Amino acid sequence: MEKIAVLTSGGDAPGMNAAIRAVVRSGIYNSVRILSVKDGFTGLINAQIEEMNLSSVADIIHRGGTILKTTRCEEFKTKEGQRKAMNVIAVLGIDGIVVIGGGGSLEGAKVINSLGIPSIGVPGTIDNDLGYTDYTIGFDTSVNTVVDAISKIRETSISHGRANIIEVMGRDCGNIALYAGLASGAESIIIPEMEFSIDEVCRKLLRGRNRGKLHSIIILTEGVADPIKISSEIKEKTGIETRATILGHIQRGGSPTAFDRILASKMGARAVELLIRGAKNRTVGIQGNNIIDMDIDEALGIESIFDIDSYELANVLSI
Ligand code: F6P
Repeated sequence: MEKIAVLTSGGDAPGMNAAIRAVVRSGIYNSVRILSVKDGFTGLINAQIEEMNLSSVADIIHRGGTILKTTRCEEFKTKEGQRKAMNVIAVLGIDGIVVIGGGGSLEGAKVINSLGIPSIGVPGTIDNDLGYTDYTIGFDTSVNTVVDAISKIRETSISHGRANIIEVMGRDCGNIALYAGLASGAESIIIPEMEFSIDEVCRKLLRGRNRGKLHSIIILTEGVADPIKISSEIKEKTGIETRATILGHIQRGGSPTAFDRILASKMGARAVELLIRGAKNRTVGIQGNNIIDMDIDEALGIESIFDIDSYELANVLSI
């Protein structure tokens, strides 16, 4: 293994830069040359590639986003796009690739492996929707960003005696809503994994109001229901003034938490170690407190198990 390339793909996630830094520094430490690919798989197809050195990744561990930029590349899903990428890999003499991204990016890493170049996945997505790993890089930062936003909304909510619906990201996964909701003492958590009833949400609001509660927080995963529609339904059914906030991409930015920086550093270094050891088609994860690696096909086949205990706890504590 003389030359390893690294790319980030899909939605960016805070901590990706720490992972890139770990790949570059641990590669160079092990006398491997590290190339960076700009714009994810698009840059692999278009040969947007340059060699990294120790200074290329100086002063990035604390920065959100990804210095390599990222895309959701449709062309790489085609045979022609894959052929172009493999040509670039051959011409530049790339021996292995580290792909940092979510589920779609791990699919891309799988394709590279199937075409004969060892590739290792590093899970980077705020959604935390990959069943084989307890945490993905960026999730912890995103949850903290949401908790911080809720604290601010809570203050104005109390002043006005209102209920607030806060829509968060997560695609098809309720983990951001669940953990931010538990950490913020939200009255109701509405997520794709659990059915919800607007009447139950309203009953809870009224119970709170009757015992003197001045405000209420309802957290909602994007795509489950329309936050504006729910707020008018609540107002209609309870008389409580309700506002909706869609947090949007604020959840994907910001300086990564210490947890995400450490996770990303360990995962990036493990990916390089695996390539040096001759592994292929593996993806890195964390289970318990241990960094693990697993066959990509096996990992992608593991369904994400919803944390029902935390959901029930949140319900008990917001009674
Ligand atoms: O996968 C990360 C994520 O932020 C999801 O939570 C969200 O549904 C999606 O990406 C948004 O994608 P985009 O930034 O392309 O609008």
